[in-house]
Order: sequence, then C-alpha cells, then structure tokens
Amino acid sequence: MALVLVTGATGFIGRRLSAELVAAGHEVRAMTRRPAAYDGPGTAVAGDVLDAGTLGEALAGVEVAYYLVHSLSSSRFEAEDAAGANAFGEAAAEAGVRQIVYLGGLGADGDSLSPHLRSRREVETLLGAAGVPVTTLRAAIVVGHGGISWEMTRQLVDVSPVMVAPTWAATLTQPIALADAVAYLVGVLDHPDALGRTFEVGGADVLSYGQMLQRAAAVQSGRDVPIVSVPVPQRGLVGGAVTLASSVGLAALTDVDLATGRHLLGSMSTEVVVTDDAIRAVVDLEPMGYEDMVRLALGDRLRAGETL
Ligand SMILES: NC(=O)c1ccc[n+]([C@@H]2O[C@H](COP(=O)([O-])OP(=O)(O)OC[C@H]3O[C@@H](n4cnc5c(N)ncnc54)[C@H](OP(=O)(O)O)[C@@H]3O)[C@@H](O)[C@H]2O)c1
Repeated sequence: MALVLVTGATGFIGRRLSAELVAAGHEVRAMTRRPAAYDGPGTAVAGDVLDAGTLGEALAGVEVAYYLVHSLSSSRFEAEDAAGANAFGEAAAEAGVRQIVYLGGLGADGDSLSPHLRSRREVETLLGAAGVPVTTLRAAIVVGHGGISWEMTRQLVDVSPVMVAPTWAATLTQPIALADAVAYLVGVLDHPDALGRTFEVGGADVLSYGQMLQRAAAVQSGRDVPIVSVPVPQRGLVGGAVTLASSVGLAALTDVDLATGRHLLGSMSTEVVVTDDAIRAVVDLEPMGYEDMVRLALGDRLRAGETL
C-alpha cells in the first residue's frame, strides 16, 4: 500500500479515482486549490501547480502521484499546462516520488494534432523531465456522469431534433467508461512493467462522433437523431470560423463554457482510437462497450438526483 497524491481530486476523474484508491487500501492525499471546500475521499491538501511553492508540502513523503490537472477553460491553456507540468515534475523529483501517473489524450503524433491534444502530449514529456518515471495512459472521451465531454454529448442529443455537424461527424473515436479508465489508472500503480511507459486505453467500440451522438440519443430517449453532415474544413480561416461559430452554439445549448467548447471542438477532427494494446499485458480488464457506459452514466445521473 502506498501514500498516493491525487491532483485534480475534485475533478470528474480524480474524485472517482480517489475513492477507488482508498477502497484498495492506499492512503490518499487529495490535492486541490480549495482544500477547505473538499468533501471527497482521502485527506485534502492545498496545492496549485501554477504556484510551485505550494507543491513541496503536498508532495512530502508521497510515493506515487497522479496528475489529473488541466486548464482547458483558460485562453492560455497551453502555457499554463506546460508551466504546471514542469513545476510538478520538478517538485515530485525533489520529494523522491517513485512514479507519476498521467491521463493524457489519444491521437497519432504529427501535424494533425489539435492545440489541445498537442498540449496534452507536451505534458507527458514535461512531467518526466526532472527524472521521475511517468506512466501515461492516453484516452479519448471518458464517459461518465459529470464528465465535460460526455455532458456535452448528452445535452446536445437532448436538445437537438436534428444535428448539423461539420466533417468531424465522421472522425473516429474510442470512448472509454469512467469505471474502466479508473481501473486502468489504479492498475498501473507501482506496476513494474508500467514505469516510464505510455499506454493507449479505450472502450470496446470504435465509433464516429456522429454514431456516438446517435447511439447516445437511442439509449437516452429511444430517439433517432438524423445527422446532416456539412463538408467544411476544420483548419484554416474557414475552419476556425466554423469552430468558433459551433462553440458559440455549443455554449448556448449546453453547460460547457465557450473556451472549453472551442478547444474540445478543435480536437474533433483528430482520430482518437487505440492502435496499440500493450496495456492488456499489464492490466487484466475487458473494457465495456459504448451503450453500457452511456447507461451507467445516465444511471449515475439519476442517482445524483438529476433528471434525464
Ligand atoms: N474528461 C475526459 O473525457 C478526459 C478524457 C481524456 C483525458 N482526460 C484527462 O484527465 C484529466 C482529468 O480530467 P477531468 O475531466 O477529471 O478534469 P476536471 O473535472 O475538469 O478537473 C480538473 C481538475 O484540475 C484541477 N486544477 C486545475 N487547475 C489547477 C491548478 N492550477 N493546480 C492544481 N489543480 C488544478 C482542478 O482542481 P481544483 O479546482 O480543486 O484546484 C480539478 O480538480 C485531464 O488531464 C484530462 O486531460 C480527461
């Protein structure tokens, strides 16, 4: 059993991860910028990755650290995420942390990566620059109650009788259930074959974003949502204008804020599917299919007292 720091412990994934780590017998320190407001599993500790001076105390004695921080809602997310990862990697090395586990984004390296996915990729390298072995899990959308990308999907199919989608409707993606993503995160902890390695993780189904929306609508309300695809480029001036217009529409139709919507939509032209299944040799898990994860997310929503 280990003393584990979970950054992003108040977040969608961090909250569930902290609960599973406590259940597995680990001692969990839950890092947040607002420890007084923390009511989740583990013991709250103050820490801000953009204020390096706060990290020494949070990391003192920590054996394994999870890095689940991002600043997607900031217009300066690339600079902030790089600075945060740098500071955290250095503080972790100083504290003698033996493993950092990071959840990043899927997608092949190269020019086609969106700024958001490029930034997630850069964080992988920066976290380990001071010498702590990093285990990276790369995932596409994580489906679960409260997840920003999933809530965007749910609210879109909820309000739209017909979806007008640009070319990203055909882009392939491989969503993963929150429970499975968390099981992988727990499974690589202190695993000798996971140190310093990058793994791709995904659910059982590869779908286009269009199919994802349609199947979510079918599970959610038994409705058929026709998708009308409009062939506009994702990049360049026209593509930028379309992404901006779409994100304004998205912000109007859903709870997602404009900056986050814009960054997420900008990533939807990148194919995000698993191409390497090396994780199977490390964590024994049969990930669930899309309809099952949607049912679980909707069930958790009802249990949280909200309506469908
Ligand atoms: N959600 C998905 O579908 C998905 C898919 C693939 C990968 N991921 C990755 O999984 C990770 C977690 O995602 P999530 O959806 O759980 O995020 P989330 O719900 O938006 O939570 C983000 C967390 O970041 C923390 N944070 C932000 N700025 C911080 C700072 N300066 N210092 C310390 N903490 C800070 C926040 O904590 P406080 O506000 O309490 O400080 C919050 O708990 C991210 O790295 C993301 O890229 C997510």
